[in-house]
Amino acid sequence: MEEKKWWKEAVVYQIYPRSFMDSNGDGVGDLRGIKSRLSYLKLLGIDVIWLSPVYQSPNDDNGYDISDYRDIMTEFGTLEDFDEMLAEAHKLGIKIVMDLVVNHSSDEHRWFVESRKSKDNPYRDYYIWREAKDGKEPNNWGSCFGGSAWEYDQTTDMYYLHMFSKKQPDLNWENPKLRQEVYDMMTWWGERGIDGFRMDVITMISKDQRFPDGVVRGNEKFGDSSPYVNNGPRVHEYLKEMNRKVLSHYDLITVGEAAGVTLEEAKKYANADGSELNMVFQFEHTGGGPEADNHYGKWDSHKMPLPVWKKILSRWQTGLEGKAWNSLFLSNHDQPRSVSWFGNDSEQYREISAKMLGTCLHMMQGTPYVYQGEELGMTNIYFDKLEDYRDIESINYFEEFTESGLMTPEHMMKCLMLRSRDNARTPMQWDDSKQAGFTDGEPWIKVNQNYKKINAAQQLEDPDSIFHYYQKLIRLRKEKDIIVYGEFEPLYREDEQIFAYTRKGDQEKLLTVCNFSDKNAEVEVPEEFKGAECLITNLGRKEFDGKIILNPYEAFVLYYKHQVTEK
Ligand code: GLC
Ligand code: CA
Repeated sequence: MEEKKWWKEAVVYQIYPRSFMDSNGDGVGDLRGIKSRLSYLKLLGIDVIWLSPVYQSPNDDNGYDISDYRDIMTEFGTLEDFDEMLAEAHKLGIKIVMDLVVNHSSDEHRWFVESRKSKDNPYRDYYIWREAKDGKEPNNWGSCFGGSAWEYDQTTDMYYLHMFSKKQPDLNWENPKLRQEVYDMMTWWGERGIDGFRMDVITMISKDQRFPDGVVRGNEKFGDSSPYVNNGPRVHEYLKEMNRKVLSHYDLITVGEAAGVTLEEAKKYANADGSELNMVFQFEHTGGGPEADNHYGKWDSHKMPLPVWKKILSRWQTGLEGKAWNSLFLSNHDQPRSVSWFGNDSEQYREISAKMLGTCLHMMQGTPYVYQGEELGMTNIYFDKLEDYRDIESINYFEEFTESGLMTPEHMMKCLMLRSRDNARTPMQWDDSKQAGFTDGEPWIKVNQNYKKINAAQQLEDPDSIFHYYQKLIRLRKEKDIIVYGEFEPLYREDEQIFAYTRKGDQEKLLTVCNFSDKNAEVEVPEEFKGAECLITNLGRKEFDGKIILNPYEAFVLYYKHQVTEK
C-alpha cells in the first residue's frame, strides 16, 4: 500500500472567486464573500480550498494575468481581508491553497513595464525577447488563446513571447534572478500561513532555447509549440530548485497543472521521493475525443467512447501506483460542467448522473477536487449570444475560426455551448432569490436561469440531494482507508456502458460499479463480493448478488472486510 500523507487523504474544493459570493453588491465575488460561506464548505466536509488567483490583476484573463504577486485584486478586497479569511478558514480546520501563476505575468507588472523600456534595462531578461526573423515573428508558434505567440514591441523593435494573451508575457526562467524573485514571493506567502500551491501551466516554464518552428497541421495557421514548451529541457531542474528553496520548508500541498503530460513525465513531477510536487493534473480524460489533436483541438464536439475514457483513467491509476500520486477531477474553471459533459443534464437524469459521476471519481485512488457548484449538479449555461460570453479564449477563437472560414458562426456557437470555459464560470447558485443569492447587484456574467430549481438552499434541506450525496462521499473517504490507499484494478474493460473497478488492501476490498449510459445495463457482481456491505448508492438498491440489471446512471459501492480468524 501507498505511504500515508495528509494530502492524500484530503478533499480539495476549488473556488473561482469572481463567481463564488459577492459581499458588496458590485456583481463580482470577493474574499469577504468567501469568508461568509466557509461554514457551507465545512458542512460539505472538504479539507482544503484551492483559490483561483486573487492577486492584483487587470483581469485580461480573470486574474491569471498578475500585475502584483504580493497584493490582492482590488475587486476582491485587501490583504487584511485575505488574512481574515485565512484565519477563519484555519479556525474551521480548512486549509487554503493559492494559485501560483508564474509561467507569465501581466504586461502591467512592474517587471514588464521596466523590461520593455530598453534592451539594457535590468529587468530586460525577466521576459523572453527575440529579434524579428525575415521581417516577421521569430518563429511560427501559436498562442493558446489564438493568434501568434509573439507580439511586436515598437520601443526596442523586438518581439516578446506570450503563450497566452498578449497581456500575459512569458517569464524567462533561464534567468536565475527571476527564479529567485519567484521563490521569494512564494516564501512571503508561506510566511503568511497559506497551505499550498496549485501551479498554473507549470510544465511550460522551460522553453527550448533554440525556439524552432513547430509543425503546422491540416489547415491550421500556426505551428505546434508543445514539443519545445511542454516539459521543456530544464523544467525538472527548476522544480527541484523551487522545492529545495521553498516547498521543503513548509508542510504544503502542491499540484501542478500539466496539460499533455505523459505517465513517464508525471512520475517525475509527482515523484513519491518528494523532490518536486505532490501531484499533477493530467487532462487526457477531458480531451475532446480520440482525435483530440485534430484541427479544432478543444473545439471538437465529439465525446470519447467510454472504453477509451476508462482505459485512460485506469492507466493513470495503475501507472502511478506506489510511484507518484494522482489528482482526481472532472471539472474546473477551464472545463465545461461535469454533469453536462460526462453525465446527462436533462431534467430526468441530471441528479442521478451527477451522483454517479461523483461516485466514480471519489472511489478512485488520488486526491479528489470538487469544483464549485459540482456538489449541486450545476450545469452548462448554453449562452446563445456571443455578447453573453466573457472568456477571452472563447471570444478570440470565435473570431479567429469564423473569420478564417474554418467554422460557421452557428457551428462555433454550438462548440462554445459545449466547451466554453464560461460554462463553469457563471455565479454559484446559493438560493432561489434574485441572481441566485450571489449578488445584490448586476453579476459580471449572467446567472444560469435554472437557479430556481438548482441551488444550495434547496439541497441543504433535501436529505437526498446531490449536496448530501457528496457530503457522504467525502465522509466515507475519512472513514475507510481503503478508499484513499487501496490498489486499483479495472473490471469489464471493454463494456461500453459500465465503469467498474475494485480497490484492494490487506484486509479490505471495495467494488465500484457505475452505469455511464441512459439505458439499463447488465452486470455480474463478482463472487468475492457476495454478502458485502453497500457503502453508498444513488438509487437505493438493496440486493447486489449475482447478475443485476442497473438503471440508467445507477452507481453503487460495495465494501468487504475479511474476518481476521484466530488460530
Ligand atoms: C491555466 C489556467 C487558465 C489560464 C491559463 C493561463 O490553464 O487554468 O484558466 O487561462 O492557465 O494562465
Ligand atoms: Ca464584490
